Amino acid sequence: MLDSDLTALYERLRREHGPVAPVAIAPGVEAWLVLGHRELLQLVRDEETFSHDPRRWRPLREGRVATGSPLMPFVGWRPAVLFADGRQHRRMRGAVADALARVDGHELVRSVRAAAERLVASFADRHEVDLVAGYARVLPLEVVTRLLGLGEAEGARVVEAVVGAAGATAAAAEANRLMTGILRDLVAAKKRRPGADVTSWLLAHPAGFTDDEVLHNLVVLAMTGHTTTLNWITSTLRVLLTDPAFRSSLTRGHLTADDALDLVLWRYPPTANIPGRYATRDVRFGGRAIRAGDMLIMGVAGANADAEALPEDGRPVVGNRSHLSFGAGPHACPARDPARLITRTAVDTVLHRLPDMEIAVPEDELVWVASPWTKTLARLPVRFSAPLLSADPPA
Ligand code: HEM
Repeated sequence: MLDSDLTALYERLRREHGPVAPVAIAPGVEAWLVLGHRELLQLVRDEETFSHDPRRWRPLREGRVATGSPLMPFVGWRPAVLFADGRQHRRMRGAVADALARVDGHELVRSVRAAAERLVASFADRHEVDLVAGYARVLPLEVVTRLLGLGEAEGARVVEAVVGAAGATAAAAEANRLMTGILRDLVAAKKRRPGADVTSWLLAHPAGFTDDEVLHNLVVLAMTGHTTTLNWITSTLRVLLTDPAFRSSLTRGHLTADDALDLVLWRYPPTANIPGRYATRDVRFGGRAIRAGDMLIMGVAGANADAEALPEDGRPVVGNRSHLSFGAGPHACPARDPARLITRTAVDTVLHRLPDMEIAVPEDELVWVASPWTKTLARLPVRFSAPLLSADPPA
C-alpha cells in the first residue's frame, strides 16, 4: 500500500543519509531534503541562516535554471510575503495575516457550501464524476477568488488561469500572464471602489503596500491557496472512500471531522516537499556541510513520519497537531483557519449530497500526479445512484 511505501521511502532516506539528504530536483540541479522533524523546525525558525529569498540560489544566479522551468513558480522572486525575510517579511506578513483574519468564518462556510452545491448539482444526473476535475480542483479557487474580491466572471477566468499555470510550460507562462493581468485590474478597481475583500484590506493596511506589492501578494495567495486546498480535499475524500474503518470512525463519532482532517495532514501533507530555503552562509547542518547559496527543501512528509515526532507506536495520535503540514516559524501558513473551513465544508457537502458514493475503479488503478512536491491523485472517479439535492437551487 502506498502509505507504507512512502513511509518506508522516507525511513530508507533517513537511514542512508540522516536527517538532511542530498537530492537532485532537475538534471544537474542539486538540493538538500530536510527530513528530520527537529532539523525542519530549525530550518524554518532560523531565517538568518536559511533565507526565503530565491535570488540567493546558486543555480539560479549561475543561469542554470531555464526561465520556462517548472521550478519557476517556486523560485521566481516576487515582492511578496513568501519571498521576503526579516523586517520586510514582518511588514508584509502583518498585512496579509490581518487581511485573512478579517474574513468572516460564517460567510466563508456559506460561500463554500453554495459553490459546492452548485458543482454537485452540475454533475448529479450523470451518476459518476471525477471528483478532482469536477470538484476539488474548482472549488477552492472559486472561493479564494471571491475572498480576493473578484466577481464571478473574472473569478472563473482566474480559476482557468491558475489551473492552466500548473500544466505545460508554454501554456503555464500564458496562464500566468492572464492571471496577473486580471489581478492587476482588480487592484485598480478596488482602489477606485473598495469593498469587504482581501484586496481592499491590503490596499488600506497601514503597512503601506505599493500597488505592485498588493498584486504580487494576491498572486501568492491565489497560487498557495489553490494546490494545497485541492490536495487536502482530494486526500481526505480518497481516504474516506478507500478506508472503511476511517469512514465508520467518523460516522460513529469516534473521530470528529477535525480529527479526520488532521490525520490526513499527518499522513498525506497537501505539499509533501516545499522549496525552499537558501543558505546565507556556509554552515554545518544535520551532519552536512551546506554551502552559501544551496537550496534546502522542507521535507514535510518525511518530517511528519519521523519517529521522533510520533508517539511510541509510530502512529499520529488524535489531537496531536505537531505535524509540520502548515509549516512553522515566521512563514507558517497564515491561512490555517480559512483553509480548514474550506476543506471541511467541501468534504461534508459532497458526502452529504452523495451518500451512497463509492470509488469507481479498483484502488490500485488510481492515477497519481507525478511530482516531487505533492503526493496526490490526478483523478478520483466515483459513482453514485441517488444524489440528495437541496430543494432550493443554491445562490
Ligand atoms: C489547505 C491547506 C494549506 C496548507 C497545508 C498550507 C501550507 C502552508 C505552508 C507549509 C506554508 C509555509 C511555507 C514555508 O514556510 O515556506 C504556507 C505558507 C503560506 N500559505 Fe498556506 N497552506 C494551506 C492553505 C492556504 C490558503 C487557503 C491560503 C490563502 C488563501 C494560504 C496562504 C499562504 C501564504 C500567504 C503563505 C506564506 C506566508 C509567509 O510567507 O509568511 N495557504 N502554507
